[in-house]
Amino acid sequence: MANEERKRIHVAIIMDGNGRWAARRGLPRVAGHRAGVAAVRRVVERAAELEIGTLTVYAFSADNWRRPDAEVRSLMGLIAAYLRIECARLRDQGVRLEAIGRRDRIPGVLQRAIRNTEAATAGGERLTLRVAIDYSSREAIARAAAGVLAAGGTSIAARPDAPAVIGRLIDEEMTSQGGNVDLLIRTGGEKRLSDFLLWECAYAEFFFTDRMWPEFGAADLDEAVREFGHRERRFGAVPAAVPADAAEQVGRLQ
Ligand code: FPP
Repeated sequence: MANEERKRIHVAIIMDGNGRWAARRGLPRVAGHRAGVAAVRRVVERAAELEIGTLTVYAFSADNWRRPDAEVRSLMGLIAAYLRIECARLRDQGVRLEAIGRRDRIPGVLQRAIRNTEAATAGGERLTLRVAIDYSSREAIARAAAGVLAAGGTSIAARPDAPAVIGRLIDEEMTSQGGNVDLLIRTGGEKRLSDFLLWECAYAEFFFTDRMWPEFGAADLDEAVREFGHRERRFGAVPAAVPADAAEQVGRLQ
């Protein structure tokens, strides 16, 4: 099947192992993060060439504020620099950048870099690159639930089918923000979600690799996507009953 006829998938990546990669080389952790930025560049470039419509990368979790100040400052600076330096290239590659997560706690310089890059790349149609910064999935779900209740008031909560209705409305809200993840990749050997896209990963296929993020490249992404292509996705049904657009339907609570 030609690429353009295929469904464009949503790939999410937990980019783990920067610190260990650096430590093994006797380098400071920030050197690992710097090498991690180079890996982001490689992977974004390759993702734009594959049947990937959305790529969401976990750059900084809401729990990462617990790291030493110097490391937090370095990470914020590296992400801001990446956006500033890559902005024109992303636009030229047809990549639309979107940041997810809280914006009120990150440095002004990063807020500006996000705003500028989002505006400059808004027309990109080849790939949506979502960078999760100061992100917590639990918080995102709670915020979506709060929005649903604020819009519907006590009338929704009082309905006998409240869980189904609220679930459907939350799902609509989450879908409008990037939708279900098809393939979740985690590097660095750990096997956990770490508060990343919990709702959206309900039916994601997982690909774990021992490779540290700074070593991850185009061939690794190819391998993960190839393996994803061999997985049988049933979405809770039996194989023959899976509709072609199951990925869009799944998660809708009936
Ligand atoms: C986890 O590895 C990695 C992070 C918390 C930061 C990820 C950031 C980047 C790859 C660079 C900036 C991102 C963009 C989008 C430009 P770790 O430090 O926890 O590694 P460890 O488990 O080996 O200590």
